[in-house]
Amino acid sequence: MGNELVQLTVLESAGTLAPAIAPQRATPVSVPGRLRTFYIETFGCQMNVHDSEKVQGVLLARGMTPVDDHAQADLILYNTCSIREKAAQKVFSRLGAFRKGNGGAGKVIGVLGCVAQQEGERFFERAPQVSFVCGSASYSMLPELLDRLEAGDRRVTGLSLDTEECFETELTRRDNPFRAYLTIIEGCDQRCAFCVVPMTRGPQRSRPSERILDEVRRLVDEGYTEIQLLGQIVNAWEDPSPARRSFAELLACVAETPGVRRVRFTTSHPRFFTPDIVQAIDSHPALCDQVHLPVQSGSTPVLERMLRGYSREEYLERIDCIRQARRTISLSTDIIVGFCGETRQDFEQTLSLMQEVEYDQVFSFKYSPRPNTLAATQGDALAEDEKGLRLAELQELQRQIQLRRNQALLGETFEVLVEAHQPRLGQAVGRSTTNRVINFPGSPSDVGRYLTVRVTGAGPNSLVAVRA
Ligand code: 5AD
Repeated sequence: MGNELVQLTVLESAGTLAPAIAPQRATPVSVPGRLRTFYIETFGCQMNVHDSEKVQGVLLARGMTPVDDHAQADLILYNTCSIREKAAQKVFSRLGAFRKGNGGAGKVIGVLGCVAQQEGERFFERAPQVSFVCGSASYSMLPELLDRLEAGDRRVTGLSLDTEECFETELTRRDNPFRAYLTIIEGCDQRCAFCVVPMTRGPQRSRPSERILDEVRRLVDEGYTEIQLLGQIVNAWEDPSPARRSFAELLACVAETPGVRRVRFTTSHPRFFTPDIVQAIDSHPALCDQVHLPVQSGSTPVLERMLRGYSREEYLERIDCIRQARRTISLSTDIIVGFCGETRQDFEQTLSLMQEVEYDQVFSFKYSPRPNTLAATQGDALAEDEKGLRLAELQELQRQIQLRRNQALLGETFEVLVEAHQPRLGQAVGRSTTNRVINFPGSPSDVGRYLTVRVTGAGPNSLVAVRA
């Protein structure tokens, strides 16, 4: 059975990353029932992308077939994101296409992920074409819920957050043939005032280290060389197994696994960012020179209102510690502008922190009040126009910083993992261990290889290079 699934692995030369179907274990594939084909669309973070890979594994193990066009699907799934209002709205615009008598007949439509959890049974009123609503904390129940749909149930839900389990699958359909996502911790126990995640993803639960390391070894056997460990707060991971490894020890074990060339981990919380993580990076070249450490704001009073658990100075101490590393570690962050009560002075503190740290990448967002969060009850958010102006100012500053930092790399050499080939441009696209995107003349056969390139040009978001 495993072989049949392997045959589905397709490597396109057309530039985009080809879907690879990676069996994690030989899984008996059952005969499909009423629901034979499925279509799944994913919104949001890497955790969601990887959840969808695992959900697809469950569907494939049932003998179902993926299709690229929802019109051909018996089961249509949207895996949703609720982090900001705009993201949450996307699923409703998709569902609009299936209003009564409008293409949805005979199909089962399901909503997964954070909006599903947030809206729960209300979904059935808002969108009667939906018959399946399931949050990520209930994915272990998917086989049972799918059985009920197959049996003809019209309204099926998985909405309990009361779980100590992680979502384990026998089979995962990974979309990238070289870099594998691997969840080590699910949920979140923090209560940041702006954030909906603890309400949509449930309590924090860590996977045992042995299980994680087994999966790493399987991934290497399947040909993956880059492993990206995932968690809402990845560095809050605590080993529930008797080995009681620390997060830094886990990083070391993953990096020491023969065949693993690159390890990344995302997202770290400053509160749990301890010096032993930097020591692990120092002693393990396979641990990438890259840390994503969301700051959210450069103003201590705003951080206090956000309930982030650190001050500007404490955050900068973490950055100092990372700067002491032997290799130059590339830094990236997330920033929210216009949080409740953010003054011009607070905002300027954020700009000055960006100048001080000099990030290589910043993901910046306008504050969006979310249901059931502490901040949503406080009000006092900035006017939308003013948020937009601040966001543009911040992004322009960051563009200049990135351009300057990238230009300083002219003439340097980097090892890249080639991720794609763009036939129109005759270019290969690779990523350095610092996570920089580097374009250089290459061929389709370069995809998946590690090559050394020399930088000849620099823009704010990527580098141009030649083979060294
Ligand atoms: N509004 C705007 N941005 C948010 N983020 C989380 N919640 C909100 C919100 N309510 C941002 C944070 C987080 C990233 C994933 O999304 O910066 O780190």
